[in-house]
Amino acid sequence: MRLDRFLSNLPHASRKQARHWLANKQVMVDAEVVSDPLYQVSAFSQIQLDGRSLQARQPRYFMLNKPRGYLSATVDAEHPTALQLLNEPERELLHIGGRLDRNSSGLLLITDDGHWSRVLTQPDKRIAKVYLVETEDPIHVDTAQRFATGIYFDFEGITTKPVQLEQLDSHRVRLWLYEGRYHQIKRMFGRFRNKVVALHRERMGDIALDPTLAPGEYRPLTRSEIDSVMAARNNS
Ligand code: URA
Repeated sequence: MRLDRFLSNLPHASRKQARHWLANKQVMVDAEVVSDPLYQVSAFSQIQLDGRSLQARQPRYFMLNKPRGYLSATVDAEHPTALQLLNEPERELLHIGGRLDRNSSGLLLITDDGHWSRVLTQPDKRIAKVYLVETEDPIHVDTAQRFATGIYFDFEGITTKPVQLEQLDSHRVRLWLYEGRYHQIKRMFGRFRNKVVALHRERMGDIALDPTLAPGEYRPLTRSEIDSVMAARNNS
């Protein structure tokens, strides 16, 4: 469609008004000022008038392979942040659905769809977060049973929801967590006076970390990955 036609179709606009905006260089398409009324725009063009977007943006969804050392935050004065690894426009509109600690690595989901990220992180939706955990000392034989029944946290006054655990070797387990309390896995192993030395998230529900993503790389989610979160909500 021609740019002048797109502009004159806006509520309270006219052909004359559209030409006026264009002549005054008030219109940008894909971050470039455009004054040609015949310029062709498509459904994918990002059109702005006086710096304001004229289309309702499609929500955005990404997976990032978070490296250790990055904060799960937008900006921070001290540390590099996971959001800084995304080369995307209007990054400040994005947020993280289910944070990872600074020294944890792996799957981080990032979006500007607040409804979707709430479903992803609500414990009652039973969306499993799967982690690989390595500990400093050998894993105590009672760990699986204590994690399955739940551990009481004085500070919040809650008992953790059941966590399933698969022992991989003396110092490594894979575990399935359905909530995300502050430093939860580290604090659970803390009950056995065992320090977590590496924590890597492999999966959230049906969304697995893409093995082709090196630490620090990201990609958009596929339609079926996005939809899998809402499908989990409907099944819960
Ligand atoms: N539990 C933790 O202790 N840290 C994380 O990053 C995630 C879960």
